[in-house]
Formats: sequence, C-alpha cells, structure tokens
Amino acid sequence: MLSALLFLFCVAVTHAGRSPNADYVDDLIRNNKFGRISDSVPGLAAKYRYPLEEHTVVTPDGYILQMHRIPYGRDNNNEPGDKPVVFVMHGLWGSSVDFILMGPGSGLEGYDVWMGNARGNYYSRRHEWLRPDALLNTSFWDFSFHEIGHIDLPSMIDYTLEYTGKQRLHYIGFSQGTTSFFVMGSLRPEYNDKIISMHALAPVAYMAHTPSLLFRALAPFVTQIADVANLLRIGEIFSHNAFYTWAGQTLCTDEAVFQPVCSNILFLLSGYSPDQLNTVTFSDNNYKYENCQGNLKIKLWSM
Ligand SMILES: *[C@@H]1O[C@H](CO)[C@@H](O)[C@H](O)[C@H]1NC(C)=O
Repeated sequence: MLSALLFLFCVAVTHAGRSPNADYVDDLIRNNKFGRISDSVPGLAAKYRYPLEEHTVVTPDGYILQMHRIPYGRDNNNEPGDKPVVFVMHGLWGSSVDFILMGPGSGLEGYDVWMGNARGNYYSRRHEWLRPDALLNTSFWDFSFHEIGHIDLPSMIDYTLEYTGKQRLHYIGFSQGTTSFFVMGSLRPEYNDKIISMHALAPVAYMAHTPSLLFRALAPFVTQIADVANLLRIGEIFSHNAFYTWAGQTLCTDEAVFQPVCSNILFLLSGYSPDQLNTVTFSDNNYKYENCQGNLKIKLWSM
C-alpha cells in the first residue's frame, strides 16, 4: 500500500517536472524539420546531414566492434581537416546513438568525433567464433565492464589513434563509459599517456551508495539471480526486439498517459531526478528504443 502511494506520488511529481532544455528541443521537434521517424546512427546522420563513417575493430578475444565517426560538422565546422580527436563512450544499455539523438545544435563543434560501442550492444553484437544467439551457450555474454575497459577501450583507442595519425585524444565517457575508463586506466596504465583529457559524465566507480530502489532491493540476491540466469542460460536481457520498440514508441511519448510510468521506470533504475530528465526527447527520440540495447551479463550486478 505504502509503495503504491509512493509510486503515485512519484508519478504526479514527474508529471509536473520539465527539464531546463525542453523548450529548445521541443521547438526543434515541433518544427518537424528533420522528421520524427525512428532511425539508426547512419539514418540519423543522413537526416541531420552530418558526414558519418563506420569503422570495425576486432578485439584480441574475437569481438567485432563497430565505431561511428563524425569527422567534421555541418554548420560552422563543415570542412574536413586536422581537428582534435575526441572519443566518446556510451553507458550501460546504451550505444553511440545516444550522442546524436539530440540533433544539430548540441554537438562537439570543431572536433573529429569518434563514438565507441562496447561488446554486446546493438552495434557490436558480433564475434569471430561465438554466437550471441547460440542456444544453451552464453559464452558470448560472459563479460562485464571489466572486459570493456581492459580490452574494448584499448582496442578502439589504438585504432582511432592509428587511423587519425594522432598520438593522443580527448575522452568523454558517460556512466559505464567512465567505469570502463577507470578499469583501463588502472589495469593498463600505459594508456593514460594516450589521453589528453578525460571528461566523466555521471561517473560510476562504486555502487555502494546507489539511490536506485531496484538495485538496492536486488543487491542481497545477486548470487541467486546469477545462478538462476546461468541455469536458464540467459546472457542477454532487454534485447533489441519489436516489443520494446513498440512499447517505447507508444507508451513513452510526451502525449501518452503512460509517459510518467516510463519516467518512473527510469527513476527506479537510476535514481529520482526529474529535473535531469527531458521528457520531450525521452519520448520523441523513438530511435532510442531501437538502438538502445540492454545486453547485461548478470555479472554486472554482482560487483
Ligand atoms: C560454447 O561455445 C563455445 C564456442 O563453440 C565453446 O568454446 C564453449 O565451450 C561452449 N560453452 C559451453 C558451456 O558449452
């Protein structure tokens, strides 16, 4: 009963909240300048008229990772040329699409932008000999932020430096993209010399004090959850599928009565912060639900 009341309270408060940048993005979307249909990274880049390159990196342990590069911009910065390189890394349940959803006007003007994709996500769901969809074999999914930091980041950073002929680059990480950076920096300290600056957005080092109600409730049972998942051979959750795409596009749009439920699922996972949530982009960027993939090795929870 109490939790139901709390939930309704959260729903009501969320509904009243509006993020600081909402007007600007509202305008962009209502003008319908770029259309509202769902799309992938290449589709969005084409729609917004940005140059885009796709690069493939194979890690020493066989994962095939795809990176996206926007070598120059479209407005003031629309010429190819020698620009400082910035490497951007997404968070848990994310992909490179997270950084271009907002469209023109909110980018890294003047940089040669490289966006990584960690093993197992929508763009890096491939391996030289393991199959992500293998029945009764979850070897492909046997990884966590440890491998992402220890193997994926060094592989992608080396590729980026070699391709651009630079010695060092700027790094921007979001959430798990900072955790994996900390792993790289401590386990492979030689990579610190390849970083000019590191920018940590919503950095995650320890989870001991997480405000997330869901994770706090689950934390005492991680061993049991991992055992059951192993038994059932579950390696992937929230995979890219038609149901989530439909749910995201139907239930989470700004006009939908269910929108606060979507917001609150997010708050349950990541802590309550309505001022930080832009419900307009949250909903209108339907592409998010098509490109965001939750490939979560249960190991991630047992840290
Ligand atoms: C899963 O498949 C891989 C590759 O074929 C193999 O090396 C591994 O031993 C298999 N794991 C299990 C638990 O059968």
